[in-house]
Amino acid sequence: MPAATQLSYYQLNNFNPAPINVESPAVWESHLAKRRDLYEMHLSIPLSLLRGRDVLEFGCNSGENALVLASIGANLTLVEPNDQVLPRLETLFNHFDLNPRISSLIQTDIEGFRAQRTYDVVLAEGFLYNLPNRDLMLTKICDLLAPGGIGILSFVPAAAPLPVSVAAPVPG
Ligand SMILES: C[S@@+](CC[C@H](N)C(=O)[O-])C[C@H]1O[C@@H](n2cnc3c(N)ncnc32)[C@H](O)[C@@H]1O
Repeated sequence: MPAATQLSYYQLNNFNPAPINVESPAVWESHLAKRRDLYEMHLSIPLSLLRGRDVLEFGCNSGENALVLASIGANLTLVEPNDQVLPRLETLFNHFDLNPRISSLIQTDIEGFRAQRTYDVVLAEGFLYNLPNRDLMLTKICDLLAPGGIGILSFVPAAAPLPVSVAAPVPG
């Protein structure tokens, strides 16, 4: 039976879609450089700006990207519906001794997430474009941003069917 959603495909096949072997120092350095390039050269966000900021990441998978933000001192709220990838996330944060940077790790999807507060940065990379209710979820992300906060998400442009990332500040 074909999977109905991206998430159910991952779960049915016990598939981690984006594992990165960051335990290897060389791979970690390369991953850090790629994420720095994405933030600083493509999105025009100096990584140092995120130190001490409250970051909410939806669909964090096994946490390799979140680790980069943890390493520069961001405070993380991580939201991931696929329980199969969470043991690796916990192992990785332990390995780098960065668990104290996780304020909260919640196993739910973006639809089920509830908060009584806002965040400086909200990330949703690699899944929003597959959701049937993506417009509603985009509004949800905007509502979760503090004034002056930054939403970072990837989407698939019609002209070039590869995901690209964009950052959009919410007016302060
Ligand atoms: C292609 S992976 C991308 C992982 C990571 N964000 C990255 O960019 O490397 C998509 C992630 O989104 C998660 N996901 C799928 N549907 C979701 C939903 N409705 N709400 C939140 N996360 C979801 C998946 O479980 C998976 O971790």
